[in-house]
Amino acid sequence: MHIDKYERMWLIVVSVTLGIFFSALLAGAVIFGVRTPDPGGFINPLQLDQTEFANPGVRDMGNGEYEVTMVAQMWAFVPATIRVPAGSTVTFNITSRDVTHGFIIEEHNINFELVPGHIARQTLTFKEEGEFHMICHEYCGRGHHLMHGVIIVEDEASTTALGE
Ligand code: CUA
Repeated sequence: MHIDKYERMWLIVVSVTLGIFFSALLAGAVIFGVRTPDPGGFINPLQLDQTEFANPGVRDMGNGEYEVTMVAQMWAFVPATIRVPAGSTVTFNITSRDVTHGFIIEEHNINFELVPGHIARQTLTFKEEGEFHMICHEYCGRGHHLMHGVIIVEDEASTTALGE
């Protein structure tokens, strides 16, 4: 069988490229622990006030575990400030009241697309003290650039968890 030298060259280029992409995918999953968020369930965005999202905030579940119930809406996260002690394991349950929003926390492995009607759910451990911004990274209208909040991870001794 004859293979043209350019055909062979492109076969090699394509194989190497696919090899690199596949390795990157594997490295992300195995080394960096990248996971898709758990499907947290469905919800009617017009009736959030009849669900646990009527009272968003931080709940102390004991043993260093916290549950955050959060509503994303034009153009804020509610609550916009979250305080937890360092070492906490925090489960985020977030839904959107209106349009599609985004949610990331800087320096942490969490990245949601918040689609109305869906609950995004993921658990994260905050090892380091510090202030980490929560940012909407999905364009959601003219106030998009104002849509952010902060997670304050405090020294273990000095804290009572609080959502404002
Ligand atoms: Cu919410 Cu952009």
